[in-house]
Amino acid sequence: MSVPPRPQINFCRDIDDIQNEIPAKRRESSQEVLQRTAVDALTAKRSAVRLGYYHDEFIDKMAVNRTTMAPSTSILMHRGYTGRVFAFEHYTRCFIDDCAKAGFSTAQVVNLGCGMDTLPLRCLAHPNPSWPATLPRFIDVDLPSTVSAKSAMVGRESIVKASNITGHNIGHDSFTSDQYAVISVNLKMPGAWAKVIEAGNIDTTQPVLLLSECFFVYIQPDMIEQFLSDATSSCDTVQAVIYEQIEPHDLYGSAMVNNLQRYKDIYLPGITTAPTLEGQENRCRKAGFRQIHAQDMLSTYDGLLPASEAARIKKLEFLDEYEEWNLLLRHYCVTVAGKGDALGLGSGVEFNVRCAGEKKAAVIGRRKEFKSSLFMVDGE
Ligand SMILES: C[S@@+](CC[C@H](N)C(=O)[O-])C[C@H]1O[C@@H](n2cnc3c(N)ncnc32)[C@H](O)[C@@H]1O
Repeated sequence: MSVPPRPQINFCRDIDDIQNEIPAKRRESSQEVLQRTAVDALTAKRSAVRLGYYHDEFIDKMAVNRTTMAPSTSILMHRGYTGRVFAFEHYTRCFIDDCAKAGFSTAQVVNLGCGMDTLPLRCLAHPNPSWPATLPRFIDVDLPSTVSAKSAMVGRESIVKASNITGHNIGHDSFTSDQYAVISVNLKMPGAWAKVIEAGNIDTTQPVLLLSECFFVYIQPDMIEQFLSDATSSCDTVQAVIYEQIEPHDLYGSAMVNNLQRYKDIYLPGITTAPTLEGQENRCRKAGFRQIHAQDMLSTYDGLLPASEAARIKKLEFLDEYEEWNLLLRHYCVTVAGKGDALGLGSGVEFNVRCAGEKKAAVIGRRKEFKSSLFMVDGE
């Protein structure tokens, strides 16, 4: 059987030209394709955990279909996902800490397009000592089939017990409990934020943290803007942590976007209005956030990972593609945005230092507060 030649890619073409060649209705991935990205993320995270990049006692229990989950072999992938997981857990714990310090009764963490991610379970199983038991509340949001698979998994007795969950109930396509809910909302539909508030039983007078770990970038820019504006106008105190691809216009970035389209049928419509760090900050400012800090994943990885963890990880697999590692991480960013004085984030300077990472935060004496369930080395 003859093998058809691989399509030739001209890496030098501008990404806008490439996008414009695709008919408008094709510039979006199908829901099926997007739901598959959750399995890709789970596979990469699971592979990193198995190799000892970080600790996660829940990830193996989330395996949708073990036979189709081939282990990842890419060192870049393992390290990249490790930085991403560390960042999300760090910012989430900082937010809950701030809510505890400010005396709020609830700290609500809404994970948009949550996939099979295990962040709520890790935080509930390993809470910071300063959190009152009733403070954190996690709401995972995704499409119905992902939610029903995830609900069945997190509802298992062993998981409920290990993550200290009480009052749980597994519905047909949802999971609810005192501390954690998994709900289904199509976030592309008009009025999506109002539906999240209703289905997630969110109290808009209490602080809300919105997490978008590689989710917004898959939906249309006007929907992202509307969603963020609806959240800032309905909540007194709200923060967002957004992780996604940037810089699609340079050589590496256009190849990245092109490859996703050609080989995986994945489109990134959201990248068009926030293609740079500045663009990310502007988008959040326009949506009503007041304190905003965007940085690429190279700075995040270097700033956030404690030195002992970074040194240990370096020894796990030999990385000689340093140039590609730097390029890859410069094409992903994390943006942290906040609105509401009640969290006492202080000046913009302190907010930026905290976002930039605990190594820099050590300068102002915050380092001791850094806790994570992910460390493999005791005494961090
Ligand atoms: C790349 S995955 C990320 C999963 C998870 N955040 C992580 O990083 O492990 C994107 C997720 O967005 C979800 N998603 C895509 N379109 C959605 C929509 N319209 N409404 C809700 N969730 C959606 C997919 O089902 C998938 O779980």
